[in-house]
Amino acid sequence: MDKFDIIKSLLEENRSIRRFDFSKKIEDSTLKKLVELTRYCASGRNLQPLRYRIVSTETECKAIFPYLAWAGYYKDWEGPEEKERPAAYIIQCMDTSLAPDCLCDDGLQLEAITLGATASGIGGCIIKSFNMQKIAEILHIQPRFKPRYVLALGYPVEKAKIVDLNDEGDIRYYRDSEQIQCVPKRPITELLL
Ligand SMILES: Cc1cc2nc3c(=O)[nH]c(=O)nc-3n(C[C@H](O)[C@H](O)[C@H](O)COP(=O)(O)O)c2cc1C
Repeated sequence: MDKFDIIKSLLEENRSIRRFDFSKKIEDSTLKKLVELTRYCASGRNLQPLRYRIVSTETECKAIFPYLAWAGYYKDWEGPEEKERPAAYIIQCMDTSLAPDCLCDDGLQLEAITLGATASGIGGCIIKSFNMQKIAEILHIQPRFKPRYVLALGYPVEKAKIVDLNDEGDIRYYRDSEQIQCVPKRPITELLL
């Protein structure tokens, strides 16, 4: 595979995963390596204002789980059951002493981390719907660092794939009859103006 195809196939594989093997822990050294990938990202003004809190102990994982919201389109699913919960989290925080905002650094870095995770056989889900105050309080994050995103991580017990949009152009993800997470993505013809 040439480099372009490697990137394309990793991007394609890099789907949001919400069900994991809770008993299969991720080494702290692996989590650190994932965070280290963010060093290679572009950064507005090259300020690099984002910081990361790794959450990998069972106690902390259990403590923060109730403050996360999962899969808004699944009205009758409240998130993964206990044995399928994330084995670790990476909390992306903004150092507000450096700047009030981070432009698009947050997304770039989350993509780098999730691509690295995918390449390591780890699944992840970027979570914006979470109780920021509670998470900061439980993890003793200093007020200067504002949690922006929670990245849930673990070894996947579900599959996910990209599908075409249906005739109605519905972009909502769904689980098919085999419980595979199907994620409709718009075609290139729609993306180009
Ligand atoms: C900015 C952003 C915020 C998100 N917030 C949540 C969230 O709070 N909870 C959740 O379960 N998924 C969340 N997701 C995951 C999206 O639902 C997911 O990316 C989308 O359905 C497309 O699926 P894909 O990641 O497999 O392409 C978020 C993703 C992004 C990029």
